Amino acid sequence: QKKMILDLDVGVDDTLAIAYACGSPEVDLIGITCTYGNVLVEQSAKNALDVLHLFGRDDVPVFLGEPHAIEKDGFEVMEISAFIHGKNGIGEVVLEDSGREPEATPAVDFIIDAVHTYGEDLVYVPTGPETNMAVALQKDPTIADELGAEVLMGGALTVPGNVSPCCEANINQDPDAANLVFRSGIPATMVGLDVTLQTLLTYEDTKKWRECGTVAGEKLADITDYYIKAYETTAPYLGGCGLHDPLAVGVAIDPSLVTILPINLMVDTEGPTRGRTIGNPDLLNDPYKSMGACVEVDAPRFLDEFMNRITGLVAG
Ligand code: BDR
Ligand code: CA
Repeated sequence: QKKMILDLDVGVDDTLAIAYACGSPEVDLIGITCTYGNVLVEQSAKNALDVLHLFGRDDVPVFLGEPHAIEKDGFEVMEISAFIHGKNGIGEVVLEDSGREPEATPAVDFIIDAVHTYGEDLVYVPTGPETNMAVALQKDPTIADELGAEVLMGGALTVPGNVSPCCEANINQDPDAANLVFRSGIPATMVGLDVTLQTLLTYEDTKKWRECGTVAGEKLADITDYYIKAYETTAPYLGGCGLHDPLAVGVAIDPSLVTILPINLMVDTEGPTRGRTIGNPDLLNDPYKSMGACVEVDAPRFLDEFMNRITGLVAG
């Protein structure tokens, strides 16, 4: 089993990432660290706790992370995020309260401790802004060499962004943090829009969860249908909703789902392209590539894995 930390701005597809991890026997989910983005960090933590409760996983600790970008004083949820994920982040669906609170330890300290404890055996999967890892690296740069792997959802290399022509939402929230992480030498794989917009879910799929006749199946279908409906407005040409965050979990478990281009990445932090993920020109001739960018995905195989795991989980 792989030790995994999910770092989430719980959101609908973040919820599906939790489901994917909980439904995967290869994963030992040692904690969820929360971040801001689709919702405020406190709401992200509440959603993580309630979603874990829905799946009977009250054993997984949840940690509060940084509330805003490293160079900013505060954070406000973008209107488009509330439209896509609902104001509460989980499609306006009300879940049973978990009765739990986040742990007292801050997310950044939990991440640092976990890297020192598990090292090579740990995979860190952020599916929101990179702020928590950036602050962890500032506090303890030695974790860059010790961490087994980071598999992040964010960025776009071969396709345009989704918040602007060159920016993907997660990187756009904190380009400085992402740039710090990308340049740290951390062994990271970028699961960007290049591949996540090829893995699409439809109402036909969520119907299968509903048909399980369980609370988990019905609630997860309700949450996801809200997101599919939003995609019908924002990207009707796709014919479904993008499985961004669960694909990062999928790649963390089985990298053979994707084609990975070895590359030294950076993030533009200045000028009109601020937030763009791009190859670092200074390291173009360096034979060592610290990162990889997913450029192709076996979408039918991922979707099969996704449906089997999630349906198995919600069937109980
Ligand atoms: C990413 O942005 C967020 O809204 C989603 O949860 C996903 O992590 C897609 O660009
Ligand atoms: Ca997310």
